[in-house]
Amino acid sequence: MGCPVLWNVFVGLLLVFLSKGRSVHGVESGHLPDNITVLEGDSVILRCKIDEEVTHKAWLNRSNILFAGTDKWSLDRRVSLINSNASDFSIQIEKVEVADEGLYTCSFQASNKPRIAHVYLIIQVPARIVNISQDVSVNEGGNVNLFCLAVGRPEPTVTWKDNKYGLMSEGEFLDITEIKRHQAEEFECVTNNGVAQPDIRKVKVVVNYPPMITDVKNMPAHLGKTAILRCEAMAVPTASFEWYRDDRRPVESDNTLRIKNEKTRSLLLFTNVTDKHFGNYTCFAFNRLGSSNASMLLFPPPSAPQLLLQVPSNTQTDRWALVCVTGGFHPNHLTLTWTEQSAGHGSHDHVGSSCTLRPNQNH
Ligand SMILES: *[C@@H]1O[C@H](CO)[C@@H](O)[C@H](O)[C@H]1NC(C)=O
Ligand SMILES: *[C@@H]1O[C@H](CO)[C@@H](O)[C@H](O)[C@H]1NC(C)=O
Ligand SMILES: *[C@@H]1O[C@H](CO)[C@@H](O)[C@H](O)[C@H]1NC(C)=O
Ligand SMILES: *[C@@H]1O[C@H](CO)[C@@H](O)[C@H](O)[C@H]1NC(C)=O
Ligand SMILES: *[C@@H]1O[C@H](CO)[C@@H](O)[C@H](O)[C@H]1NC(C)=O
Ligand SMILES: *[C@@H]1O[C@H](CO)[C@@H](O)[C@H](O)[C@H]1NC(C)=O
Ligand SMILES: *[C@@H]1O[C@H](CO)[C@@H](O)[C@H](O)[C@H]1NC(C)=O
Repeated sequence: MGCPVLWNVFVGLLLVFLSKGRSVHGVESGHLPDNITVLEGDSVILRCKIDEEVTHKAWLNRSNILFAGTDKWSLDRRVSLINSNASDFSIQIEKVEVADEGLYTCSFQASNKPRIAHVYLIIQVPARIVNISQDVSVNEGGNVNLFCLAVGRPEPTVTWKDNKYGLMSEGEFLDITEIKRHQAEEFECVTNNGVAQPDIRKVKVVVNYPPMITDVKNMPAHLGKTAILRCEAMAVPTASFEWYRDDRRPVESDNTLRIKNEKTRSLLLFTNVTDKHFGNYTCFAFNRLGSSNASMLLFPPPSAPQLLLQVPSNTQTDRWALVCVTGGFHPNHLTLTWTEQSAGHGSHDHVGSSCTLRPNQNH
């Protein structure tokens, strides 16, 4: 009964992954090569299940013999024999490398008949960003070219994302032409090949632009009290500030006036307002890209208007005049409206249109 025994030879290959020492997966194959996937750097055991009738056996990497029976042919220290007995012939490859990918063959002879079993080893490498653009600083209107180089097996995808708008583009290169200030932010490069968690790195893009004064307001001030003039400017890099009076005289700090510069604004702090403080102040904001200025007034609050009747010396021929006097607006705009109450019906009628007085005139 020698022949049946021959056909009893079970030709099989059991493959076991050793992922950090743990048996993850086993496959038994027929004649088609099975794929066995293993992470670069991990160990793998190639297991060949045989039968006691086997007389010769060998493990091959492509056409190179690794082990012929228990005799090691391979010079590679990472390759070792794990088990060799009548039913099992297993080798281990430690710290697998990308170059180890390929076809491995368990070749054996059972009752003078050669048999083989194949396995195809696939080495995976998690996606990883290997080089990426440095953070950049660019002037508004300039172009930005970012790159993000990634490696991995299988070939990873690379996408650029922007924190505000989400996905921007696919591929290793991100080009932004004529960049605007609102596009200044962190751009995220994401690479993924499904082997491990995606690798993510960020590039910060700073967009420089000259100051733009955003908030100025005329402020009323009372004698002897405190007052503040504010000048707010958006700028990258942050603006420096200077203050001038109407005649372009620089404003200097003294015991009643202090200039306080903050990150995005400058304050004129009046600690004790006097008459000489009222006037037109110009805030000048600048950085290395340019400058901008804005003017604002520190004005006394209006006083109640007084109405005076000017009686001419000759009441018959000369003109009579009604004069309205008010204070505190100079040099701000002042609107006077005259109304007439006719004796007849007691109704109010406008006399002409309202009269608007321009600043810097004597009224
Ligand atoms: C092995 O992987 C290749 C692609 O890498 C695939 O074409 C083939 O079908 C796989 N074989 C088996 C048995 O899964
Ligand atoms: C061969 O070794 C394997 C693994 O150590 C063991 O499970 C099996 O029983 C052994 N077979 C024989 C015939 O000794
Ligand atoms: C398998 O063969 C390839 C090509 O010759 C070689 O680069 C690789 O190191 C070999 N791997 C093992 C585990 O023998
Ligand atoms: C990354 O890319 C830049 C630009 O191509 C190059 O100058 C630099 O040497 C690279 N760095 C590394 C670590 O490869
Ligand atoms: C403000 O200045 C006036 C005139 O110089 C002075 O009389 C007054 O005491 C000052 N008030 C304060 C709170 O310093
Ligand atoms: C304030 O001064 C600036 C600069 O000198 C001038 O352009 C502006 O018209 C002045 N404003 C008023 C209300 O006088
Ligand atoms: C202030 O700004 C005006 C335009 O808004 C500009 O014409 C003028 O030259 C500026 N003054 C200074 C001192 O920069």
